Amino acid sequence: MTHLETGLSAFRARILHFISDPGDHDSPASFEYFDDGLLLVNNGLIAGIGPAAEMLPTLPPATTIVTHRDRLILPGFVDTHIHYAQTDVIASAGKQLLDWLEHYTFPVERKFAAAEHALEVAEFFCDELLRNGTTSALVYPTVHKASVEAFFSVCAKRNLRMVSGKVLMDRNCPGYLSDTAQSAYNDTSALIEKWDGQYRLNYAITPRFAITSTESQLDVIAQLAGEHPDMYIQSHLAEHLDEVALVRRLFPWSRSYLDVYDRYGLLRNRAVYAHCIHLDELDVRRMAASGAAAAFCPTSNLYLGSGLFNIDRADAARMPFAIATDVGGGTSFSMLRTLGEAYKVAQMCQQRLTPLRAFYLATLGGARILGLDDKIGNFMPGNEADFIVLDPYATPLTARRSRSTNNLSEWLCVLMTLGDDRAIAETYILGQASNPAH
Ligand code: GUN
Ligand code: ZN
Repeated sequence: MTHLETGLSAFRARILHFISDPGDHDSPASFEYFDDGLLLVNNGLIAGIGPAAEMLPTLPPATTIVTHRDRLILPGFVDTHIHYAQTDVIASAGKQLLDWLEHYTFPVERKFAAAEHALEVAEFFCDELLRNGTTSALVYPTVHKASVEAFFSVCAKRNLRMVSGKVLMDRNCPGYLSDTAQSAYNDTSALIEKWDGQYRLNYAITPRFAITSTESQLDVIAQLAGEHPDMYIQSHLAEHLDEVALVRRLFPWSRSYLDVYDRYGLLRNRAVYAHCIHLDELDVRRMAASGAAAAFCPTSNLYLGSGLFNIDRADAARMPFAIATDVGGGTSFSMLRTLGEAYKVAQMCQQRLTPLRAFYLATLGGARILGLDDKIGNFMPGNEADFIVLDPYATPLTARRSRSTNNLSEWLCVLMTLGDDRAIAETYILGQASNPAH
């Protein structure tokens, strides 16, 4: 590590980051925690991390030192499944998945044909992510090419690391949201060419879910996946029992819902499937063997009445998973609130989600299932310096309750159970403070 280059800044605070999955026993080798730590950033990248007492004497005299006493620095949160176009759907009550899509979601998504509307929502959405400490996400726009252009251009301007791609859907939806097999191919190919790998952006092939694609569109999606073997794939899978029953009727040849995606070559590394609740043992093992991962969306699963994600079964089969808000089925942009609800889902299943593992899943765990752990998710030197500063004293209750904790794990439990956007004091992108005012 050299401290002599230009642009060196040091951030002094409590610091936590993960090296691997702590599992359910808080493996001590899985994380590093410094009570009084120093994070060194050089030209937007992590240059070092360690105890402040050891590192301060080694810094060049002109180094800028930003002190966040008693606050906690963490890698930025990674939300592995969220719909930017559903920002205005959040908190629409009273329906379960299929009715909710028809009555609330599709009419709101219709408006994204207009670039101006898409841009306005994309700006608000990115503000809201940053206010909540989320620095990267796997994002659904809508079926409209304009919605993808708007999202990527807003993220490019802000230098955010994001993954997204045009939603593909040509049946079981209103005509105004329907593309075709051919336009799915043409638009996706053009968007990949224009955006994939530009700025900090990557493209995801995005069939909405099996129900909304004809078999001829799925053929085209399989072709796209074959032409771009390293590309992200995102979709929804086994979220709600009514949805599973409809998939069975639409694809009578399939062994299971998962089998539909499998048949079209859509299970592989960097394929992320939201929900994965109503899978059987074979499915979970097939997910793990294929390299595909699950996005566990607790607030959405509770709000839409979909079911409870089975952490133990995922672990037993080694099916990778991370955490996601799934706004607008999900009810909060806050990954802290989402972790709090994930904990309760585990409780309802008589299972365990330790606070340390929860914070792992929201940072390095998310980066891993996106194959981005060599760039974001922890503070290994050379990684991109997207990080957040949590303020445990943001509210009287979190302050009071934080003071009565005895160790890191208890403190993290307070933050994820009581914390929300108010606890995010700062969000840094590539070492630059970028959070809009609360
Ligand atoms: N399945 C297909 N589309 C959607 C969506 O927009 N939200 C959720 N939660 N599930 C879906
Ligand atoms: Zn979703």
